[in-house]
Amino acid sequence: MENVQTEKIKVGSRWVEVDLAAIQHNYREIRQKIKPEVKILGVVKADAYGHGAIAISRVLEEQGVEMLGVTTPEEGRALRQAGITAPILVFGAFLPEEATSFVDFDLTATVASYEAIQWLREAAEKSNRIIKVHLKVETGMGRFGFWPQEVVAAAQKIKQTPGLFLEGVYSHLATAMWRNKKYCYRQFGIFQETCEELERAGINGLLKHMANSAAVLELPEMQLDMVRVGTLLYGQAPAPYMEKNLKLKDSWDLKAKVIYIRKLPTGQTAGYGRTFKASKPVLIAILPVGFVDGIQVEPLLKPANLLDVVKGMAKLVLRYFGCQKLSPLVQFPGGTGRIIGKVGMQLTMVDVSAVQGIKVGMVACIPARRTAIRADIPKVYRAADGAWQNGNRGEEEKTEKRKEERGKRKEEGWCSSWVTDQEF
Ligand SMILES: Cc1ncc(COP(=O)(O)O)c(C=O)c1O
Repeated sequence: MENVQTEKIKVGSRWVEVDLAAIQHNYREIRQKIKPEVKILGVVKADAYGHGAIAISRVLEEQGVEMLGVTTPEEGRALRQAGITAPILVFGAFLPEEATSFVDFDLTATVASYEAIQWLREAAEKSNRIIKVHLKVETGMGRFGFWPQEVVAAAQKIKQTPGLFLEGVYSHLATAMWRNKKYCYRQFGIFQETCEELERAGINGLLKHMANSAAVLELPEMQLDMVRVGTLLYGQAPAPYMEKNLKLKDSWDLKAKVIYIRKLPTGQTAGYGRTFKASKPVLIAILPVGFVDGIQVEPLLKPANLLDVVKGMAKLVLRYFGCQKLSPLVQFPGGTGRIIGKVGMQLTMVDVSAVQGIKVGMVACIPARRTAIRADIPKVYRAADGAWQNGNRGEEEKTEKRKEERGKRKEEGWCSSWVTDQEF
């Protein structure tokens, strides 16, 4: 994202910038890429991959997204309370006490066990309402879902269960981001066979879906009736080799202001464990972000092949000998710095020796895993017209407006009752 000056917006010393215009652009790019009849489910789980699930869901709704996807009923509830009306599929398995959320907040459930069918039945019967259900098929992810040979019986059970409406059937790909698509085709084959068995058993018209972002880019035959996209919406490629496949715009930046600057003489160490030692005089700037905010929290990934193992070991050795070249880059208006030493709980040190005009208050753009960043860091949003707005202020105004609209709809007598007025 371009380096914009958002200081005028009062957000404190660190914040996340979310470009809603980029989300809109990415959505349209995906729409163009897929077959016209294929529906889009926008994945807004994990606070929309760190972008703010409410703001992103609103943009997607405006764009006409057919469905939204979250992991937990709690995430679905938050969207409903903010006035989101698009269908919401909850991907995750849920607890018996969470079953009522599906009726209270008009959420669509993923069903992966007979127990879940029973819990939903009870919730639906108590409220005299219908719960929409998508049946999850285990094709190779090994997480949850009915085994293929169980699917017809499970689908029949759902169809016979009062209060449940079987709307869809789906599965999830485990390796779509790999160049080698053999396992994807194996999963897809199992899913297709299972769907055919359902049809032979007279269970027709289900919404079938399997493709995620990587499949949208590389496996068009897997689009089926709907694709479920997250990564692409947020302007990222599922794997580096796929980057050139679509013209996406990055939608997220973490920014912080420099709070302190100092010179370190040759030989001075810095930070916990003294992992950094100045080999010449360096100018360092301190930023008010740290691991408590999610900076440099790396997941422990298993190397995919021998080359990955070698690369990982080489990095460790270079780090041991204090090689700074591998530490993350931080962008300033006057140039680029590098993180030095260990990232602290709330403070990060950056070598800014090569940054022109560095001063306290200057804004830095920091590399970070967007899904690891704390959700309560203030967000500022750039709307499609280019105007920047403080996330929280925007939320309040929009919620007020939606409350009014909802009131009107209620008077007109066609408003469903899943959100009570007190819940706004
Ligand atoms: C069930 C399900 N479908 C789709 C997605 C979207 O994946 P991606 O971000 O690769 O598009 C996710 C996210 O991991 C998911 O859990």
